[in-house]
Parts: sequence; C-alpha cells; structure tokens
Amino acid sequence: MSKSHNVWVSRPLFPEVLAHLAQYVDVRAETDERQRPPAELREKLADVDGAIVGLGERIDAGVIAGNRKLRVVANLAVGYNNLDVPALTSAGILATNTPDVLNETTADYAWTLLLAAARHVSSAERWLRAGQWREGMRFHDWLGMDVHGKTLGILGMGRIGQAIARRAYGFGMPVLYHNRSRLPENIERDCRARWVEKADLLRRADHLILVLPYNAQNHHAIGAAELALMKPTAVLVNIARGGIVDDAALAVALREGRLAAAGLDVFEGEPSVHPALLELDNAVLSPHIASASADTRRAMAQLAADNLLAALGHGPDAGHPPSLLNPEALGAVHEAKT
Ligand code: GLV
Repeated sequence: MSKSHNVWVSRPLFPEVLAHLAQYVDVRAETDERQRPPAELREKLADVDGAIVGLGERIDAGVIAGNRKLRVVANLAVGYNNLDVPALTSAGILATNTPDVLNETTADYAWTLLLAAARHVSSAERWLRAGQWREGMRFHDWLGMDVHGKTLGILGMGRIGQAIARRAYGFGMPVLYHNRSRLPENIERDCRARWVEKADLLRRADHLILVLPYNAQNHHAIGAAELALMKPTAVLVNIARGGIVDDAALAVALREGRLAAAGLDVFEGEPSVHPALLELDNAVLSPHIASASADTRRAMAQLAADNLLAALGHGPDAGHPPSLLNPEALGAVHEAKT
C-alpha cells in the first residue's frame, strides 16, 4: 500500500533500518554507493519528502532550488559540512546529523591511529609482507615514539575530544586542549584536561589529535606555521575533516623530519590523497573509517532514520527530530510547503 510520504536513501543501508523506515514511508534506496553529481542529486530529490544522505552528497542551494516538496535531509554523519544548512533553512527544509552515537568508537580510532603512527605499525607490516624480514628481531629497527606518559594535546574538545581525553588516563598522559570556548570545570575535571592557547598547545603537546569541525575558520587550522611550532618527535592525528590540515605542508614536514609521524583518516579533496603523503612511510593513512564499527554505523543509520521519520511526523519522536540542526526551520517548513 502506498504511504503518505516517500523518501530517498542515497546508499544501501542496513536492511533492518530500511525495514523500519518502510513501516512508515515509501522508501527508494540506492543499491550502489557512489558520489552523485549535482544534477543527479537534484533529480533524486525532486519528488521526495525526505532524504538520507552521506558525506559524499553536497546538498546546497543549487541542488534544492525550486524544490517544493523536500522537508528533511538527514545526514549519515555527525559532521555536516556537506550540507548548506542556511540554504536548507531558507527553503524550509530540516537538516539533521548523527551526534553522540559515534563518540566512543571514533575516540577508539583516534587512539588507534596515534598508537599505529607512533610505532610504525603500517610501514613495518608493509616491510614484513614484502618479504624483507630476513634477520630475525633486530634491536635497532623500527624505533618509534612512546605514547604512554607523554602530554596529549587535543584541538577541538567537543564530545569526541572529551571521549579521547578520558582514555588518556589509562596511558598516564596529562591532557592539554584548546577549544574556542573553555569547557565547564566539571567536564575539565572529568576529562583531566587543561585549556591552553592554541600556540601553547602546539608547542607543548608531545602528540596532537585534531577533532575540529570543518568550517571556513578552521580551514588549514594546521598549516606550515602551526606545524613549525610542534615538536619534531610529535605524532599528529587527524580524524576530523580534510581541509583542517594543509596536507601539502604536512607532507613536507613529515618528509623533512620536522614532525615524527602522522595518522590520517581524512584528507583534503578525499577520496584523492595528496600524492606526497602516499610516498611517506611515517604516515598511517586510512579511508575515513573512524566511526566504522558495525555497531556504530548501525546506530548512525538508525538515528538518521529516526530523524527523518520524526521530521515527517512519524514514530515516537514525531515532530521533534532528535538531532535537528536548524530548529528555526521548523516553523518555516509549514509556510514554505503550503
Ligand atoms: C564522519 O566523518 C562524521 O562526521 O560522522
């Protein structure tokens, strides 16, 4: 039986999440996962009430121009720099993301990259697989940097940054952080973290993890000048977004030994990766997988579905999407769509 709303899901999702959606709305889910050009996005969104999209889909004013039907775009990510939220708001379209459900998994992965980069895990494994391990255990090979007991720096101290900080206690690491605004004292105490100026953080951190949202102010928050302040023994981890680090400048610093190593999950212009980074043995690189545990990706998909259904007036949260980015659009939805 056809339902009152129809929705587009831009990629295959967990079957149980699609089945949940299908209890309330007609679902058109893509069976392949690829980046779709704006013209195709426009067409896909033209006659649906809602859409679940991922970071590969840029939903901007051009894509929604003239669209009188769309009421909600639910992002399958906590970061939403792929959505032009002001444009969606003026068009009376709700925008949602998937915060919180990925905090712990993403924090685990930041530590994975820090430890792997500090201890040359990727390059040592490549060397082993290439059949170059011929002399038994060699005492001076693969000497890395210690992580335990060092000072951890965190740039960007939202909920993921805080989850990273809490793990530092087990490694006996003092934590310094910089954030636009200082955290309330009770959270600082819980995270055992101390606020410092950004330059101070860069100078004092033995290892630095970036967890900033991407926006115009944070573009190249770490460039040549910032890298020059860091310790040559430091490991830099970026699990935030491509564009926060100037990847070309980072590659130069890593090649010249001005920075010991980097663990990178995100890249400027991904899926392209700066070719100079690909050449480096002291960079551990992964394809944007920080939140990719099966449980967490399922929870993200479920939250995106709950957001979408609630925005369309279905399910237990009807009318109140749990993670709404533009509450000011709630009123506009009715004006713009009637
Ligand atoms: C992934 O990068 C996310 O923002 O969820």
